[in-house]
Amino acid sequence: MKPICLVIGAGAGIGGNTAHRFSKEGYHVALCRRSNQEALDNMVKDIEAKGGSASGYILNAIKEDTIENLVKDLEKNLGQIEVVIFNLGAQIGDVTLADLSYKQFELGWRMATFALFRTAYSVFPYMEKRHKGALIVTSSTASVRGNPRQHSHAAAMGGRRLLCQSLNAEFGPKGIHIAHIIVDGAVDAPDTLGKMLGPEKFQKLRETKGMEHDGLMLPEKIADTYFHIAQQQRSVWTHELDMRSFSDSPWWNDNNNSYI
Ligand SMILES: NC(=O)c1ccc[n+]([C@@H]2O[C@H](COP(=O)([O-])OP(=O)(O)OC[C@H]3O[C@@H](n4cnc5c(N)ncnc54)[C@H](OP(=O)(O)O)[C@@H]3O)[C@@H](O)[C@H]2O)c1
Repeated sequence: MKPICLVIGAGAGIGGNTAHRFSKEGYHVALCRRSNQEALDNMVKDIEAKGGSASGYILNAIKEDTIENLVKDLEKNLGQIEVVIFNLGAQIGDVTLADLSYKQFELGWRMATFALFRTAYSVFPYMEKRHKGALIVTSSTASVRGNPRQHSHAAAMGGRRLLCQSLNAEFGPKGIHIAHIIVDGAVDAPDTLGKMLGPEKFQKLRETKGMEHDGLMLPEKIADTYFHIAQQQRSVWTHELDMRSFSDSPWWNDNNNSYI
């Protein structure tokens, strides 16, 4: 039975590319996303065509019992979850305080923080028994810097970062590797940034900043780093890592990057 890599948030960007990478390395990849059954099926088929093993699930991860039931089902019927890639974003767009509803604010927390808590709550008992496992959490600049009109996103991602620290404090010594990854720049990701900008703006951005310019982060390269982290020997675990394109200033400088 192959070890399982569960990808929560498997779009065409970081999630999907990480799934491809882990499947190439011998994992069964369990992919979930909220919508687009066709794209999910195609990703599963593509992985299988390349000799890998995958299964796909449409679920809304912010609803209670979705992640919980999937974890139980995978552990009972498919194998042991060795790696979880928690890749849900929580970007609800730029909204001033006055225009932000209570519900929108809470939605950011449900996606960024509470869904991660529920994931750890569901998977860690299995990993703890085996003294082994990795949880790699995609995060963003908003986890370390508040930006104008980003109240919900920044508060929620800041919570995500500190939840990772406190999970690490409790479960690191029990053999579970938790890594918080600060993706500090725009990613060449059609299902997220592409949808936020719309097809024309996204294509223009790809042509002017992305592609051969390497100013948009390439998700397949992010996937290489994720795989490396998941394989780290326990005397040298990375807990936090940041990454960005060579042409972007890091988050602690003012780089006017408005996509993060
Ligand atoms: N893209 C960027 O420029 C950028 C920049 C900085 C940080 N990040 C971080 O990168 C991560 C996302 O990676 P990505 O942008 O490359 O995207 P991706 O892996 O291409 O796709 C992420 C997927 O998450 C799924 N998702 C969102 N909400 C969900 C929910 N409630 N339940 C189940 N699935 C859900 C979406 O599915 P559907 O499409 O079916 O809704 C989407 O396809 C996030 O943690 C984000 O904070 C991204």
